[in-house]
Order: sequence, then C-alpha cells, then structure tokens
Amino acid sequence: MNKTSIRQMRKVDLKDVSTIMKEAFNSVDQGWSLKDSKIYIDEHQKCSFRLIAEKESKIVGFLIGDKDVDTLIIHSIGVLPEHMGKGIGKALWEGALKYARNSKLDNIRLVADPKSEAFMWYKRMGLKENGWVEMEAKL
Ligand SMILES: CC(C)(COP(=O)(O)OP(=O)(O)OC[C@H]1O[C@@H](n2cnc3c(N)ncnc32)[C@H](O)[C@@H]1OP(=O)(O)O)[C@@H](O)C(=O)NCCC(=O)NCCS
Repeated sequence: MNKTSIRQMRKVDLKDVSTIMKEAFNSVDQGWSLKDSKIYIDEHQKCSFRLIAEKESKIVGFLIGDKDVDTLIIHSIGVLPEHMGKGIGKALWEGALKYARNSKLDNIRLVADPKSEAFMWYKRMGLKENGWVEMEAKL
C-alpha cells in the first residue's frame, strides 16, 4: 500500500509544485500556463502555511494557505490529475486542519466559485457558505 505523506513545502519543491498546479487546474478547465503557475507559487513563498503530499517520494499534491488573525485562509490546493480521487486532497486538508488547531486558530476559510467542481469538494470537507459574496470591477 502506497502511503501518502504530508510535509512542509521547501524551495527545492517549487518547480514540481508549479507543474502540479498547471496540470491540476488545467484538468478543471482553468487555463494556467507553467509560467503563470511558477509566478503564482513563487509569489506565495511568503505564506505561512505551504504543504505538499508525496507518494513514493514523488510530489503529487500541494496546499497553500496563510494565517490571518484567528483564521487559516486557504489560497489554493491541487492534486496531479492521475492521483485525484485517492484521498490525497483530503490528506492535505487534514494537514491544514492539524496546523490550524495546533496554532490555536478558530476558523478555516476560502473563496470558491459555486460553479466549480472544487465547490462540492469543499462542502464534502465540511465547509459551509457564510453569506459573504466576493465583488469586483474591471479596471
Ligand atoms: C479538489 C481536489 C484538490 C480534490 O483532491 P482529491 O485528492 O481528488 O480528493 P480526495 O480523493 O481526497 O477526496 C476526498 C473525498 O471527497 C470526495 N470527492 C472527490 N471529488 C469530489 C467532488 N468533485 N465533489 C464532491 N466530493 C468529491 C471523494 O469521494 C472523497 O470522499 P470520501 O471522504 O468519502 O472518501 C482535486 O480534485 C484537484 O486538484 N482539483 C483541481 C484543482 C482545483 O480545482 N483546486 C481547487 C481550487 S484552488
């Protein structure tokens, strides 16, 4: 049985994590190039909470979040398409919960598109809509 291990992301992982981000997001029709994924991962290096999932020493998933007062904000999570549906996302999510509880945080929060596949997955992980709606305007 191939066990999934969860550990903190290191600088040396950034290239692999960028590839996973591109492949995971492209699998749900979010067109991320490798270049944009690298920029995103690089810009999120300052985040206080960055996890990766490994299977047989290969990185297969990642989760990036940040602490905001009493809340863990999840920015992104992705699993390599060929490894989806095998409990890796859930293992990363549980890693995030463990961190939040150890850090005495009270909440975990994220922004999600109700039309996305991930929306139902977040509900599966126990999240509920809180009534706030994201707003924006073109500049
Ligand atoms: C969303 C994502 C991280 C989930 O990871 P995963 O490894 O495929 O999910 P898991 O196998 O851990 O699923 C955990 C549970 O959710 C269920 N599940 C899986 N996909 C689901 C979905 N789309 N909707 C509802 N439940 C789902 C599984 O059946 C499993 O149920 P169980 O606890 O009863 O066994 C992954 O599919 C992904 O990378 N998607 C593309 C990127 C993305 O959209 N990221 C989110 C936006 S940042």
